[in-house]
Amino acid sequence: MIRALSVIASRNIGKIGEYCKPYAFLTPCKHKLNSLFFCTKPTDTHSAMDLSGMRKKYKGDDQCFEEDQLVSLDPIKQFGDWFEQATKCPEVGEANAMCISTATKDGRPSARMVLLKGFSHEGFRFFTNYESRKGQELESNPYACLVFYWEPLNRQVRIEGNVERIPFQSSCDYFHSRPKSSQIGAVVSRQSTAIPDREYLRQKNAELEERYKDTDVPMPDYWGGYIVKPYYIEFWQGQTNRLHDRIVFTRPKKGEPELKDMQHHAEGGWVYQRLSP
Ligand SMILES: Cc1cc2nc3c(=O)[nH]c(=O)nc-3n(C[C@H](O)[C@H](O)[C@H](O)COP(=O)(O)O)c2cc1C
Repeated sequence: MIRALSVIASRNIGKIGEYCKPYAFLTPCKHKLNSLFFCTKPTDTHSAMDLSGMRKKYKGDDQCFEEDQLVSLDPIKQFGDWFEQATKCPEVGEANAMCISTATKDGRPSARMVLLKGFSHEGFRFFTNYESRKGQELESNPYACLVFYWEPLNRQVRIEGNVERIPFQSSCDYFHSRPKSSQIGAVVSRQSTAIPDREYLRQKNAELEERYKDTDVPMPDYWGGYIVKPYYIEFWQGQTNRLHDRIVFTRPKKGEPELKDMQHHAEGGWVYQRLSP
């Protein structure tokens, strides 16, 4: 009963907040609602939000993802299949949006979203500012982890790999294929540095629009592409009963046995296995 109330409340608390807006002096009422609906156990502070009842249904056992459903034992082709399905799914807003995690040399991680701009057997490409936080981290620690989550499909793909800058000319070609306003935007933004206010960006943008109104925008040397060369690709599909499917492709390191326990041969030097969820 409490759980059911908690779910109803979690769906409606935004609306309740809206209704409460004109009565800001009643803010404590929202806190009361939070504790009434969300907190099944007493908590020390009124601001604690218990979200333990927030849970979505995933797939049923009849729609599980088994090894014989891999379209290929080449994980890049398998990724291509899932990616295509994500692009065709109208509920997936941006199929190529991915979270990329990087880390400093001493292992402090950071993560943010970027857009995948191409993939092949060589790896997964994205573009950014080489002097940004991620850029600096990648220069000193050239490894990254990518995560795609296609929520309506209950699917996640995790990719880990070493990272290299793509050739200058390939970055240039992509840079000049973008709309002029995006090219100027890349020049305007010294990504991840502090700026006084938004007006600073507006002014710089206007100056550069004027400067390059009749000419090409040169690609700044602090901007370009990276390629993530994968050594780990995991395909995850969610199950309502939490017995999720996880099929992982890895590349055995030099000197490692070709196949470890429960691993199977895949294509192109990859092996695969199933992991417990
Ligand atoms: C959906 C989405 C797509 C994004 N795509 C890019 C991208 O392709 N390249 C990029 O540099 N930043 C992109 N961003 C902005 C980054 O998330 C981030 O704010 C920026 O790269 C600075 O990150 P950093 O300071 O950790 O380097 C995107 C953000 C979102 C939400």
